[in-house]
Amino acid sequence: MTNIFDHPIDRRGTDSEKWDRYDPDVLPLWVADMDFPSAEPIVQALGERIEHRVFGYTNEIRGLREAILAWLEERHRWKVKAEDIVFLPGVVVGFNLTARAFGTASIVRSVSIPTATEARGVLIQPPVYPPFLSVGKNAGIPLFENPLIRVKDRTTESEGDPQPAEHIKYEIDLDHFRTCLNQRPSLFLLCNPHNPVGRVYTRAELEVIADVCLKTKTLICSDEIHADLVFSGHTHIPIASIDPDIANRTITLMAPSKTFNIPSLEFAFAVIPNPQLRKQFQEARRGLVGEVNLFGMVAAKAAYKNGAPWLDEVLQYLEGNRDYLKRYVQERLPGIGMNNPEGTYLAWLNCEGLIEKSPEAFQSGTAAFFLEHARVGLNEGTTFGTGGEGCVRLNFACPRSTLQEALIRMEDAVKRITLRASTAC
Ligand SMILES: Cc1ncc(COP(=O)(O)O)c(C=O)c1O
Repeated sequence: MTNIFDHPIDRRGTDSEKWDRYDPDVLPLWVADMDFPSAEPIVQALGERIEHRVFGYTNEIRGLREAILAWLEERHRWKVKAEDIVFLPGVVVGFNLTARAFGTASIVRSVSIPTATEARGVLIQPPVYPPFLSVGKNAGIPLFENPLIRVKDRTTESEGDPQPAEHIKYEIDLDHFRTCLNQRPSLFLLCNPHNPVGRVYTRAELEVIADVCLKTKTLICSDEIHADLVFSGHTHIPIASIDPDIANRTITLMAPSKTFNIPSLEFAFAVIPNPQLRKQFQEARRGLVGEVNLFGMVAAKAAYKNGAPWLDEVLQYLEGNRDYLKRYVQERLPGIGMNNPEGTYLAWLNCEGLIEKSPEAFQSGTAAFFLEHARVGLNEGTTFGTGGEGCVRLNFACPRSTLQEALIRMEDAVKRITLRASTAC
């Protein structure tokens, strides 16, 4: 059966960040957008608005806030009040603004949020989305790290599958998390679902970290941009939905951009139930962070009101790609280990086994090896900070045929170096 997501759309020459970076013979599986057309209701709503032909200054569009609230309640069982929502042009803007507004205890105290005396700084959990790494520097506050820990995991792909596959799984180092919070950062920046390791944290994990944050009076900024991209068997739980006390000291950042493949329309939102935090956040943006774009709002409203069927279809397709990729890596890419993405459309490939056999081939970096020898563009693991050494990130939100072609190329490149290493012995 053909699927609309199977049809490749030529994005070369369309000023696409992903497709215009490399030479035309390279298959780019890096930056986190999808090579799929966006949902029809979004395209229609944008077309209708364009037909009006007048693009003057705009108010918040009617029905947008209600559409977001209904989405959060239906998809995430999270009841939020209309006034808790603050629109933003992006999630990266949102967490940098949060760090500047609340990176030091004196400011947090000034909004009467109980916080630890002398608290200062931001805690992150690498390997993580690269802009997290510069939040401390941008805000002029210390950056603390609680690196995720790598464990081995076995999963069975489908019923009746005789061979459970071995995967790499990442977990939060809870003991070290407590130690880090005793160093008194004022802010913990959570990434859930986690880019690049694809974890969708469980309620039990979230409850532990939320409890430690409550006890140490640390504010939480939770980047949940991938919240809607979660595969079967897993559920996204907004950390603020766990308990009203947690909600009271959490700024949650969400967007329709990853979910519906509309990142260049630059629309995101923060959920800030605590009115004092919200006020302080809004004051920090004044004159610096502008309002959101008309088309971003139009697309967001159409997405949240009428985009669910498209999302369910794309999730099914992505899950198929994930399983295809896992099996391919397991069976045909010796020396490479892979995570089992529970959410996001990003795979994290650990190539240390391969590098050990032929270190000289990887001297310029792991992604550089695949770019040169396979003509596949991936993200270099070290750009995700601690724990990224020897890894690459692969974006599997593309037609299956593109993924297949990239994997064949990678397999050939791996075979060539493995052959060279064995003949050298
Ligand atoms: C975890 C995470 N946060 C934020 C972003 C980007 O958000 P925005 O484009 O809204 O700034 C990305 C994009 O890949 C991401 O993976």
